[in-house]
Amino acid sequence: MAKKYVDMSKEELTGLNSELQKQYEDIVSSGISLDLSRGKPSKEQLDVSEGLFSALSSSSQCVSSTGFDVRNYGLLQGVEEARNLFADLLGVDPENILVGGNSSLTMQYDAFARCMLFGVGEHRMSWIRQGDAKILCPSPGYDRHFAICEEFRTPMIPVRLTGHGPDMDQVEELVANDPTIKGMFCVPKYSNPTGETYDEKTIRRIAELNPAAKDFRIFWDNAYLYHDFGKVTDVANIFDYTKGTKNEDMVYEFFSTSKITFPGSGVAVMATSKANIDFAMKHMSVQSINSDKINQMRHVIFIKNAENLKEHMKKHAAILKPKFELVEQKFHEAFDGTGIATWTEPNGGYFISLDIFPNTAKTTFNLCKAAGLKITGAGATFPYKKDPESKNLRICPSYASAEDLEKACEVLAVCVKLAATRRLLEVE
Ligand SMILES: Cc1ncc(COP(=O)(O)O)c(C=O)c1O
Repeated sequence: MAKKYVDMSKEELTGLNSELQKQYEDIVSSGISLDLSRGKPSKEQLDVSEGLFSALSSSSQCVSSTGFDVRNYGLLQGVEEARNLFADLLGVDPENILVGGNSSLTMQYDAFARCMLFGVGEHRMSWIRQGDAKILCPSPGYDRHFAICEEFRTPMIPVRLTGHGPDMDQVEELVANDPTIKGMFCVPKYSNPTGETYDEKTIRRIAELNPAAKDFRIFWDNAYLYHDFGKVTDVANIFDYTKGTKNEDMVYEFFSTSKITFPGSGVAVMATSKANIDFAMKHMSVQSINSDKINQMRHVIFIKNAENLKEHMKKHAAILKPKFELVEQKFHEAFDGTGIATWTEPNGGYFISLDIFPNTAKTTFNLCKAAGLKITGAGATFPYKKDPESKNLRICPSYASAEDLEKACEVLAVCVKLAATRRLLEVE
């Protein structure tokens, strides 16, 4: 078992540092080119959806259950079959489903933009006209949520994640006392990047929030709802707690088939109250006549229902699980006993969150870069890229081959350790 770095004498640390420096120089001169930053499916995973290409092969399959020819303009809310399918997958009524285009991120951006520009409903003033809308951001979180807030110059307030969702004492206190706090981004299952799933109590507390802002909105990004590869983790349906309450309109849920079939060629949805759907569609009808309904039909034929989807996702799981296990094994080999790293071991999703020795994330990133290993930028998982302890790294095991993954973890470990010894020697 390795010795804890913080318990090492200066001599021991100096010796270790020289040894790591030598290993690092050997890596640099070997000229590697590796990447741990791509949170997307591998080619093998894309191949499990090959059947999508033949799912819809003639115009006779393009007539919806109400007799609508989906090859033509119309059905802004989505084809009935697609609304029924996503209603089944998300556990809501079809009237609460709005089927969009190829990206849930686009739907989130648009929903956010509508709040900013038009408010949350007919009777509310737009967030932008109210002047100082702020958004709560459980962190570490998804960098593209933070990018939406930055794009609209909406100040972000980081909220601590507990391992089972946001710190609700903090959230309740903040929203109850500040009417300028207008919303919160959440990834309730296999959160990006911590992999945590919000527990039932947390979800109930979110659903029962009592915000000072009457136009407060939750952006509930359920991107990984069916993406289990370990023990299947259930996540409560937030609408079970908001339905029929004063918070009926508070939640916009987002979901897509990006990491089920083909990212960029999938189908995205928003699930929310009927009032929110009507309001969104009023504005969307100015933007577009409809989304790609042929793609919606193909996906309906291919995915069929929740049971069939679960079987399909097992094929993704069989490819993803060994990759996550490999990373976890390499991290154990490299860091056990050193006290310089902790990491998440999620049951699903796409990411491992690696916390390294405080104040070394940037150095580690730069060392990796110079050695030919690309990792997600230090700080990317926090609003304004400001990681308060400069220690969090997002690791994406899905895309690389097992061989590259193994090598990449070894290189990363040398960089993490080298940065830690440098930091400890400086501090002394
Ligand atoms: C939490 C989360 N939401 C949304 C997305 C993107 O989804 P989409 O492809 O539907 O735009 C990602 C992609 O990594 C994600 O991690």
